[in-house]
Amino acid sequence: MRKFAIGNWKMNGNIASLKMLGEVQAAQALSGVSVVICPPYPLLHAATLASNGSGVEIGAQSCHHLANGAHTGDVSSDLLADVGARYVIIGHSERRADHHESNSAVCAQFQSAKTAGLTPILCIGETQAERAAGRTIEVISSQLKASLPPQAQAFILAYEPIWAIGTGLIPSLDEIAQVHAFLAHQLAEICGSDSKISVLYGGSVKASNAAQIFALPHVDGALVGGASLAAKDFCPIVTALGHVQ
Ligand code: PGA
Repeated sequence: MRKFAIGNWKMNGNIASLKMLGEVQAAQALSGVSVVICPPYPLLHAATLASNGSGVEIGAQSCHHLANGAHTGDVSSDLLADVGARYVIIGHSERRADHHESNSAVCAQFQSAKTAGLTPILCIGETQAERAAGRTIEVISSQLKASLPPQAQAFILAYEPIWAIGTGLIPSLDEIAQVHAFLAHQLAEICGSDSKISVLYGGSVKASNAAQIFALPHVDGALVGGASLAAKDFCPIVTALGHVQ
């Protein structure tokens, strides 16, 4: 399965932050894994120019489900592709919460991303209360089914427990392994056993815990928030992923 280290800058960074791409490119070249950086919209074009010709690709953090029109403040997948983005994060829990994005809205965005030639990075995950109630598998399973359009292929799935995002908390390694084994099985059922969908873990991944997480079966990399903002934090994660057989 293809291995990905994906950095989600969220609402952080500025033009000067793009300087870190040089170090990330060097770490990517040595590691051989796929690296994607997802900066805020206004930095996308400069980021694609800065990474041009390197092994680091650029993604966006969301998209509108329509190709154009009167939607003030929104950005279409077509425009993302036009400025050189190749990936787009879809259905991040912060979008689902802050912008009330439902599974069906996420599904429509997924379709627009595919139509524009972008690779969707679909995020799913349970709340703390859902985990405590023993409902993790049920919740992520129904999110996955409701967020994917029919015949979905060639995307990336990110399992991100909502309570682990930005908190420094992570599930136990056993718990991560259990969810990833379930998702691998479910993706084979939905998309076919030869579909080769990479499944990433996200939520408080850091240099200090990355190697242990990457060693788990069915974990094909990470979606990284806070630790993707500085090269000194992100590059060791890229390197750790490169060490996984
Ligand atoms: P975090 O964020 O690494 O800061 O926990 C992960 C994410 O939201 O994708």
